[in-house]
Amino acid sequence: MNTVTCPFSGATATPAPAAAPASTPGHPAPVADWVRIEDLHQDPFPIYQRLREEAPVHWVPAVNRYMVTSYAAAHEIEQDEARFSANERNSLMKRSMGHSMLRKDNPEHQVDRDAYGATLRPGTIKKHWMGIFEKNHATWLANLREAGPGADFVWDYAAPYTAENLRLICGFHNATQQDMQRWSQTMIDGTGNYADDPQIWAKAAQSSAEVDAAIDEMIPYLAANPDHSLLSNLATVPIPLEAIRANLKMTIGGGLNEPRDVLANTVWALLNHPEQLAAVRKDPALHAKAFEESVRWIAPIGMYPRETTQAVVLEGIELPAGARLGVVLGAANRDPQIFEDPESFNIFREKKPHLAFGGGVHFCAGTWIARAQVAQVALPAVIDQLPQLRLDPEQASTDAGWVFRGMTKMPVLF
Ligand code: HEM
Repeated sequence: MNTVTCPFSGATATPAPAAAPASTPGHPAPVADWVRIEDLHQDPFPIYQRLREEAPVHWVPAVNRYMVTSYAAAHEIEQDEARFSANERNSLMKRSMGHSMLRKDNPEHQVDRDAYGATLRPGTIKKHWMGIFEKNHATWLANLREAGPGADFVWDYAAPYTAENLRLICGFHNATQQDMQRWSQTMIDGTGNYADDPQIWAKAAQSSAEVDAAIDEMIPYLAANPDHSLLSNLATVPIPLEAIRANLKMTIGGGLNEPRDVLANTVWALLNHPEQLAAVRKDPALHAKAFEESVRWIAPIGMYPRETTQAVVLEGIELPAGARLGVVLGAANRDPQIFEDPESFNIFREKKPHLAFGGGVHFCAGTWIARAQVAQVALPAVIDQLPQLRLDPEQASTDAGWVFRGMTKMPVLF
């Protein structure tokens, strides 16, 4: 049997396994052997366009998964955990962060999710977190100003702002925002370590051990001095320590990059569309629209995994039991069957439900927190307080990634 080596990770893949007969007749998945990881990393959108035009699902040897790129197929998967399990076998995420709610099916998943209590819900955000986000914004905007012309909007402002917010949401009073950024990145690198690089595993394991130690120290403190954080709530519910650790590691990995990326992506997109920026300046109701259009246009989580529990036919494509799927939100959110002129950033487009926060039982638990810290606090304040904000013409901004996509460099003048 032929094997294919992923040029980016070095991982080997076998061609698409033959599907077992399913109840409804379908077609075998086409093989997209032309897709390369480096190209996805640089700019996945032309690749998604070609994939979607050919079929809703492909076997992609370089990724060693079936990539699901149509909106209808992605939506069907999200709504049906009986046929499409989140509990992927051989999961690198489980190895890097432990077995969190994100890789469990119900009823186990719901037990973990309920244990997060009210921390991430709208009422707590309004009463408690909004004031904290405003204070953190002031601190890190001052940091950006101090860095002067050519300061990096991502690394001098968006990253520390969102990391500090998440530190307090989690309840790590014994860590710094820099710890949060390092933990997040090294454990995420573990979840993508298809090349089995021992150095990446060592860094992920070091961060994992540091998070365990921080949790062990904070639980007795928060039991005696409760606050509104996740850890404070977790300290009061009968849930195994192993689940607390895994869920917090997943939240550190999933609750930092995404708000950071949507904040920088939105500002970058508005700076590149001055007429839309001018409209947002005039009408505060458009902050929320800019946020939603930004996560549709560039889904911060571009792809997440699922596994079939039985042979299925998905949008006419036969998949065997145990098939490893990548649900490509970055592609589904630009499906022309749903969104008119989908490649354009347009805050005035007709309102349609995007899939950037997932759907079904795993619908993002941090959606309201993300909207609050980005669309309600940071975005209006940045636009109001930096009226001369513009991209530095001397130093180009860069964006990259496909599983996670965002600005990697964004020098600004103000
Ligand atoms: C714009 C920002 C964000 C985006 C685009 C986003 C996206 C997502 C997506 C797509 C999923 C589902 C993944 C899957 O089904 O495999 C998810 C799950 C999750 N997210 Fe977010 N997220 C964001 C911010 C946050 C924040 C700020 C937090 C926490 C502070 C958070 C916490 C979670 C949790 C706990 C889950 C797991 C839910 C479950 O399994 O039931 N997210 N997120």
